[in-house]
Amino acid sequence: MSGPPPDPSRRRFFRQFAGDVAASAAQVVGAVTAIRDQSAAEAQTLLGTAGLGSADRAAVASPNAATATETGQGALPPRATGQPMPTGFRTPFRFESDAVLLVIDQRALPETLIEIPVRSAQEGARVIRSMAVRGAPAIGQVAAISMALSGWLARNAPSPSRRTLMATAAQALTLARPTAVNLGWAVRRVLARHEAADAAGASGLEAATAMRDEAERIVAEATDDHGRLAEAGLAALPEVGDREIRILTHCNTGPLACGQFGTALGIVQAAHHAGRPVHVWVDETRPYLQGARLTAWELDQAGVPHTLIPDVAAGSLMAAGEVDAILVGADRVAANGDTANKVGTYALAVLAGHHGIPFYVCAPLSSVDLATRDGLAIPIEERPADEVTVIRGQRIAPLGTVVRNPSFDVTPAALISGIVTDEGVLRAPFGPALEAAMARREARRAGTDAAAGAATQEAGGPVAGLPSTPTAAATAAPGSVQ
Ligand code: MRU
Repeated sequence: MSGPPPDPSRRRFFRQFAGDVAASAAQVVGAVTAIRDQSAAEAQTLLGTAGLGSADRAAVASPNAATATETGQGALPPRATGQPMPTGFRTPFRFESDAVLLVIDQRALPETLIEIPVRSAQEGARVIRSMAVRGAPAIGQVAAISMALSGWLARNAPSPSRRTLMATAAQALTLARPTAVNLGWAVRRVLARHEAADAAGASGLEAATAMRDEAERIVAEATDDHGRLAEAGLAALPEVGDREIRILTHCNTGPLACGQFGTALGIVQAAHHAGRPVHVWVDETRPYLQGARLTAWELDQAGVPHTLIPDVAAGSLMAAGEVDAILVGADRVAANGDTANKVGTYALAVLAGHHGIPFYVCAPLSSVDLATRDGLAIPIEERPADEVTVIRGQRIAPLGTVVRNPSFDVTPAALISGIVTDEGVLRAPFGPALEAAMARREARRAGTDAAAGAATQEAGGPVAGLPSTPTAAATAAPGSVQ
């Protein structure tokens, strides 16, 4: 058979990705271990086992792995009575090959599971802008990988062209959605690796490999951070005696939004797996219905009891004493603790304050932006009118109706009981607490890097001039609650 000669470097590109995700998750302990097992089984299903060694395969093996997710276009597998229920949450993306990332089209869920191929930053920007992939941590991860894919595509271009291509790629991704800070943060990290490699005289392939390393690292860090966050949040949930704890949540903060565990929903899952009776009030989350379509779907698969409510019912449930705590995610936490999250969050916080209900923002420190002073400085995305006037193809308002569709709102720090992070639960005043948590995370990461460096040296040292990805074995134990 004729054809182009095989490119051996191509086979290696992204080869460790699936293993890193599963092995990093294996560092999380306690109640989160149960999530890890189920979530890693789902990751195995989605990511495939091609890149995993036998030890890693064993680490993700689970009886539930048989509940395979269909790929390509088609309906979700029906639930036959007596069949094992799909459990655990799903990651929102997987690699088809070194050069193609498959992203679940979240717009089609829950009815249909479609995967969209992403081969470049431009395609990454498209799936992010269109909200095929959404949720602050997930769009950061997809953006990082998309940058690395563009680096790979450009690996044979001369250095000046590559620099221009990478700058254009970064701009396309950063402009895709303005509010979630994770997006620009992840893109800058991967771009910086290209610039550093290029400045050091590395080849295009070496620069692309460095970008790949950074993207993998962002995903592995997120997996570890979200596990730590879930454990911290579990310890912070209010005591309600023997009865179930009733948690209200808004939008979608599970693995579809985050990869692996999730943030607010990660805590819910941790509670469920820890044997704590829990019931979730799921805000439908107009206009995009992330709660109705995605959160209800994820909770159903995880076996967590839940009830879907219209957003406007939240106040009366609080007034009736039927809500014990509110857990929401964040797209950007400003330096003073003001938090941008899905529109409707602010109203929940005001109601929670009125009714004396704990209101927790659950956000990894990668969603904290110390460069943004307060909520007023957070850019709020305005989305298209038809997201409000048309629901799943059905027009619900007269043609030509004037619409305002802010996708996020800002909850002032004063209304937030605590910010649950990968460095524990932070309390007001949030300014110093956030700074201290960032410093702790830096110290933890520095320790991780040092340990990874030692391990790499033992194994023969990194590729000249290119820092390597930390090994999962070097990730730190979960943090404590402040
Ligand atoms: O517009 P979306 O669906 O991307 O908005 C998502 C949210 O508002 C989430 O609450 C936030 O990103 C946190 S995800 C852990």
